[in-house]
Amino acid sequence: MRFSIKTILSCSITGQEYHLAGWVRSVRVSKNVAFINLNDGSNQSGIQVVADQELPGFDEICRIGTGAALKVSGRLVDSPAAGQQKEIQADSITVIGNSDESYPLQKKRHSFEYMRSIAHLRPRSNTFGSVFRLRSRLAQAIHSFFAERDFLYVHTPIITASDCEGAGELFRVTTLDADAPPMQDGRTDFSQDFFGQKTGLTVSGQLEGELFALAFNNIYTFGPTFRAENSNTARHTSEFWMIEPEMAFADLNDDTELAEEFVRCLCSFALEECTEDMAFFDRQIEHGLIERIRKVAEADFARMDYSEAIERLQKSGQTFAFPVEWGLDLQTEHERYITEQIVGGPTFILNYPKDIKAFYMRQNQDGRTVAAMDLLVPKVGEIIGGSQREERLDLLTARMDELAIHHEPLWWYLDSRRWGSCPHAGFGLGFERLVMYLSGMDNIRDVIPFPRTPRHAEF
Ligand code: 4AD
Ligand code: MG
Repeated sequence: MRFSIKTILSCSITGQEYHLAGWVRSVRVSKNVAFINLNDGSNQSGIQVVADQELPGFDEICRIGTGAALKVSGRLVDSPAAGQQKEIQADSITVIGNSDESYPLQKKRHSFEYMRSIAHLRPRSNTFGSVFRLRSRLAQAIHSFFAERDFLYVHTPIITASDCEGAGELFRVTTLDADAPPMQDGRTDFSQDFFGQKTGLTVSGQLEGELFALAFNNIYTFGPTFRAENSNTARHTSEFWMIEPEMAFADLNDDTELAEEFVRCLCSFALEECTEDMAFFDRQIEHGLIERIRKVAEADFARMDYSEAIERLQKSGQTFAFPVEWGLDLQTEHERYITEQIVGGPTFILNYPKDIKAFYMRQNQDGRTVAAMDLLVPKVGEIIGGSQREERLDLLTARMDELAIHHEPLWWYLDSRRWGSCPHAGFGLGFERLVMYLSGMDNIRDVIPFPRTPRHAEF
């Protein structure tokens, strides 16, 4: 039976014979002994495999290239050398798939830009091994977080006819002939399209999530999300994953409390359960990362009204590239200034002007703001966006009219306000932004396996 390297090292039964398999990170030959660093993806360090001269095929073993796939059998022994506590004394080594000098991941430092161009191989590197292990563990931790609190996991559709956020960033899904679509009155006739209407890829599962919250109380979605937003930043991708909890009988305050508990739990989880990878990030990606995350895991998150945030930005004396004015959206530079300079920790900004937020947000008494919240964190800026929803049918339809949003396509959403409507609230956490935040990686393209950004859909 074969065990993973992580399991072998954690059980650590010296003298035990093990079978393992993985890919060669490096081979070093000295004094008729070959030292192979073998990695199977289960941990950061891999394991040192030691091959003596007497081993059958020793000459071939000395010539094994970086990247080759091997099967190894051998005993776990105490390592006499510094650098590792245990190593495998090989009894047999079989080359399953060879590799030569043209293998692009030779043992040296490569830039992240270069690594993006070999995204098919980068999972086999130290940094990306750690990133994708962390990503996987976090996804599991997120499901556990909600399972422990009795949230229903709901799968919302990927193909949709509604632009939830109203930002016009829907990718079109169609089977019409792009060169000769059927026309009616000078416009494309989508009634002849596959779904009999204009459809696209979802920008958020929220609207359908709300319907489920109004049946199951507490729900969440965790799925792929698509935005045809032509912004080439280090924080945006065209395809990303979002976690969207929604709670019935809940207001904006409940919403921020859940978000705070959620983010804090995930910080603790990363520190406690992903220690080897977090130590790697702390060493190689961002010095002081572990301390930064530990502080967040223990911090009380600040809460500040949008209006106060604007005032404090204006009084800061700082020059910004984008204007700071009540009614304008906060840009990343403003968000980072608030969370990094003004507060020095995670900060909820509450009650944004209604004109810069989506139609579904609950209108406040003042008539000009909505019960919205964004969570800003140092380095990344906005990591969560959420709100209490407008549960009052008359106010919701009036707002839709102001924004010229047709009622008809959202008849089912409006129905939810007709029967058994109740205050409810939720938020969306961008999964890649979370992984960036916890790993210290600066570019969103480096925390998603195969990034989709404008003009990039390779792999
Ligand atoms: O603030 P957003 O647009 O909110 C919504 O979509 C709501 N429907 C969520 C809800 O209330 N259920 O997006 C939520 C989060 C952002 O805070 C950000 O972390 C992430 O999704 N996000 C992106 N991440 C990567 N690339 C993009 N293009 C993103 N757009 C948003
Ligand atoms: Mg937002």
